[in-house]
Amino acid sequence: MRLLVTGGAGFIGANFVHRTIADHPESTITVLDSLTYAGDRTSLDPVADRIDFVHGDIADLDLVDELVSGVDAVVHFAAESHNDNSLNDPWPFVQTNIVGTFSLLQAVRRYDVRYHHISTDEVYGDLSLTDPERFHEQTPYNPSSPYSATKASSDMLVRAWTRSFGVRATISNCSNNYGPYQHVEKFIPRQITNLIDGIRPRLYGEGRNVRDWIHVDDHNTAVWAILERGRIGQTYLIGADGELDNRTVVGLLLEEFGRPADDFDFVTDRAGHDLRYAIDSTLLRTELGWTPQYGDFRSGLAATVQWYRDNESWWRPRKAATEQMYVSQGEKRL
Ligand code: NAD
Ligand code: TYD
Repeated sequence: MRLLVTGGAGFIGANFVHRTIADHPESTITVLDSLTYAGDRTSLDPVADRIDFVHGDIADLDLVDELVSGVDAVVHFAAESHNDNSLNDPWPFVQTNIVGTFSLLQAVRRYDVRYHHISTDEVYGDLSLTDPERFHEQTPYNPSSPYSATKASSDMLVRAWTRSFGVRATISNCSNNYGPYQHVEKFIPRQITNLIDGIRPRLYGEGRNVRDWIHVDDHNTAVWAILERGRIGQTYLIGADGELDNRTVVGLLLEEFGRPADDFDFVTDRAGHDLRYAIDSTLLRTELGWTPQYGDFRSGLAATVQWYRDNESWWRPRKAATEQMYVSQGEKRL
């Protein structure tokens, strides 16, 4: 399969490219990435001779038209992806997540190219801590932040282009990913790199918010299952039954670093902070036969800690600026 992978220099996209070369060596890959602050071309260094890299914007209609005309499928990861940034400056989220998706949809429509749209469980809003329900394919959309609202908008565009223009699309909404090559702005890599630097981890609010963690490789094997066997027009939720509150995750990291259990700080909470996400991935598992390989979060986390220890040259250049960004966004110890 000839693939166009957008956002392939970002966290999940880079891991997708690595997995694809290992598991589907017959594929040819073109990566389209504009290398924002979140994109890092060096994440693709180990596979540089196996891909074509195009430095460009998904909202560039002419460029996207040309690239899409030469492939069998598009896997669309590129996005502005960080909630805290979306509260500070929503405009790039509207431009990339909505206008960028529109640009890709117009091209796949024109050339009848298979399209897979990567989205998030955050489009569904949040659940209470005690709700027995989890998100499923019929849960109504109810996004809370500019990030999740723009992702929800992009999903709606995909649904409309599928129904009205016959675009051969699938959508996946996945829970929180962890693993190698994740930007140090995100929760887990921020705390790991803080701990490496001897800084106390930072928990927003009371640290009670729950996320449903999945290893990035499990996300990407699910994407491949959908790409190969998914029903056109169908949405699949991706999750690995990994619900944990943020305090527990920090507790596991402190253990990993041999530090006392109370060696963290509570800091200013995020505005509109979603309380809990939880995924019911029954459809994906029963219809497509997908199962996650990283059953044990503790060992997946330990491997991720080791990756950040071994790859300091990858994250170090962005660490100081990221911490400065949090200060300028008003983060304070409570
Ligand atoms: P990321 O921020 O690490 O990477 C995004 C990539 O997109 C970067 O390489 C960036 O340079 C590129 N990009 C941004 N704007 C672009 C533009 N206009 N044109 C071309 N490239 C552009 O994000 P991520 O965490 O890898 O997320 C990838 C996708 O997965 C996103 O669509 C996100 O919504 C979705 N998702 C993420 C998670 C998660 O836990 N990180 C969970 C579910 C879904
Ligand atoms: P994040 O990685 O930003 O992902 P998302 O907002 O998409 O869920 O944050 C995960 C959780 O961790 C979320 O509840 C916010 C919280 N958080 C902290 O407690 N401290 C931090 O320093 C960061 C970045 C996030």
